[in-house]
Amino acid sequence: MIINNLFLKEWVEEIEKLCTPKNVYLCDGSQAEYDKLCEEMVEAGTFIRLNSEKRPNSFLARSHPSDVARVEDRTFICTSQEQDVGPTNNWSDIGSMKNKLDNLFKGCMAGRTMYVIPFSMGPLNSPISHIGIQISDSPYVVVNQRIMTRMGKEVLDILGEKNNFIKCMHSVGMPLEVNQPDISWPCAPNPEDKYIVHFPEDRSIWSYGSGYGGNALLGKKCFALRIASKMANEEGWLAEHMLILGLESPQGETTYVGAAFPSACGKTNLAMMMPPEGFEGWKVKTVGDDIAWIKPNQDGKFRAINPEAGFFGVAPGTSYSTNPNAMEMLKNNCIFTNVALTDDGDVWWEGMDGDPPIHAIDWQGNDWSPDSDVKAAHPNARFTVPSSQCPSLDKDWENPAGVTIEAFIFGGRLSKTFPLVYESFNWDHGIFMASTMGSEATAAAINQASIRRDPFAMLPFCGYNMAKHWRHWLDLGHKYTENSPKIFRVNWFRKDSNGNFIWPGFGENMRVLKWIVDRVKGKVSAKSNSFGLVPYFDDIIWSGLEFDSEKFSSLIEVPKNEGLKEIDEVKEHFDRFGEFMPNELESQRIELEQRLHKEG
Ligand code: GTP
Ligand code: SPV
Ligand code: MN
Repeated sequence: MIINNLFLKEWVEEIEKLCTPKNVYLCDGSQAEYDKLCEEMVEAGTFIRLNSEKRPNSFLARSHPSDVARVEDRTFICTSQEQDVGPTNNWSDIGSMKNKLDNLFKGCMAGRTMYVIPFSMGPLNSPISHIGIQISDSPYVVVNQRIMTRMGKEVLDILGEKNNFIKCMHSVGMPLEVNQPDISWPCAPNPEDKYIVHFPEDRSIWSYGSGYGGNALLGKKCFALRIASKMANEEGWLAEHMLILGLESPQGETTYVGAAFPSACGKTNLAMMMPPEGFEGWKVKTVGDDIAWIKPNQDGKFRAINPEAGFFGVAPGTSYSTNPNAMEMLKNNCIFTNVALTDDGDVWWEGMDGDPPIHAIDWQGNDWSPDSDVKAAHPNARFTVPSSQCPSLDKDWENPAGVTIEAFIFGGRLSKTFPLVYESFNWDHGIFMASTMGSEATAAAINQASIRRDPFAMLPFCGYNMAKHWRHWLDLGHKYTENSPKIFRVNWFRKDSNGNFIWPGFGENMRVLKWIVDRVKGKVSAKSNSFGLVPYFDDIIWSGLEFDSEKFSSLIEVPKNEGLKEIDEVKEHFDRFGEFMPNELESQRIELEQRLHKEG
């Protein structure tokens, strides 16, 4: 394969000169190429091939212990003006960062192959999609990108002669000297040597030193959220940290919702949830589990696509009881990273069904038994799997026109104060609910619970000033009043005085989703409390679950003192954004305060 696009050709030559790889390889995205790279990684010790009867065509990778998750404090956004990134991002000056990167990348691919990876975020023929080209010296990245994106030759065909691709530059940051043997997970082990850098003004990404997840699969958080959120702000659309699911009624009518939750708050579970007893004939249909790109169409409908083609989900906690669809889709063609290896060549993680194995090899390659005082799988161990293997996948998941979103749901991990579900009084109030969203740092902090504000679940992912992001949402709702979705907040995580979750969660969340659909369709009324519109007990379907109205009240009531504390914390939160703070949101805060005082 040769590169015909002159812009791409020039860029690849420039990068080759800078990084001095052993050779350059243009990825075609074929199965043969994938198989060959996997085989090479088995030989190099990066991959372990799993038992071909138990887990066909699947592999285990163990990362370096210093390289197990996204590194938020090494993530930078570089703009001409510091105020463009706001108080929640690490800003750096463009010139000095480019100098630093130039030095880091100089010769950084010595002894390695430089892969050129053309990929599309979104279906190949969708007007909502965008093309990226990732350059990387990691074959692990290539095979993961083939699962997570539409990757290869077709993308170059669509790109043609154009130069509107996002440049995504990646190196593991471990050049090899002549005759230096490689290691199974090369990276730059020192945290200060890792750099995940974004240049929204020229729409480029430079990532150095990590091979893991969102640090290295640059289509995901770096492009589809940080760069795309800025593009969306300029062009009138939305790039959000949201799952997309459809709820199909027994009559065959599907209602689509977009739901934003911070990392590790259950997006994957919710996106492919199995409806519980009492919901015969209802189906949950999966469109995406992590990212949504949403563009209002000519009719003002909010049309959403999942820009990804695979799931990069957290393995620990995934089981037939929490997520049966995920267990089914993980039966073959998967890459597992940092889970445990069983003696029969299969995988295991904490929370999987059944008894733990009596012996396994843990994620660091050491012997493990249930008596060990370390975890067998790393808590952020992940699976990479093609979406097409998900049994609950929606028939329209690749529809180039997207699906129409009728409700937005926002949720965090909050042990008190916040109701199981509430609806906003109007659009601006909904944006207030999303902009003040938060999650508790740890479960241990139940009582002195300090909330880490994570507006729109976008705290680590908004590529520009968060207050401008709120302004953008407010404006979109004002522009498209007729079809703007209803806005809800949910909280699966409220706890009783003994510290136990009050709400059973997982499949039972269907009861809440059904109420949301009924509200969207105007089928049920709701009652007001200080925070918003909450369900009447009798409007929730309870068959198959024992749950009395008293317990339900404890899930939706807002104690006045806790509400007032929230008001004060929100003030502090908003004050950080100074002059960029939209007036509408401060007005909403004051109105909430007045409602709380009136109630008591
Ligand atoms: P990223 O992929 O990191 O963006 O995260 P995600 O939102 O997909 O998170 P993930 O599905 O990995 O979150 C899993 C965590 O949420 C586990 O700790 C689950 O036990 C927990 N979880 C998911 N759904 C529920 C629920 O309904 N109730 C409770 N209590 N916990 C839940
Ligand atoms: C998240 O952290 O929200 C993820 C995983 O979805 S990663 O792609 O590694 O960012
Ligand atoms: Mn995520």
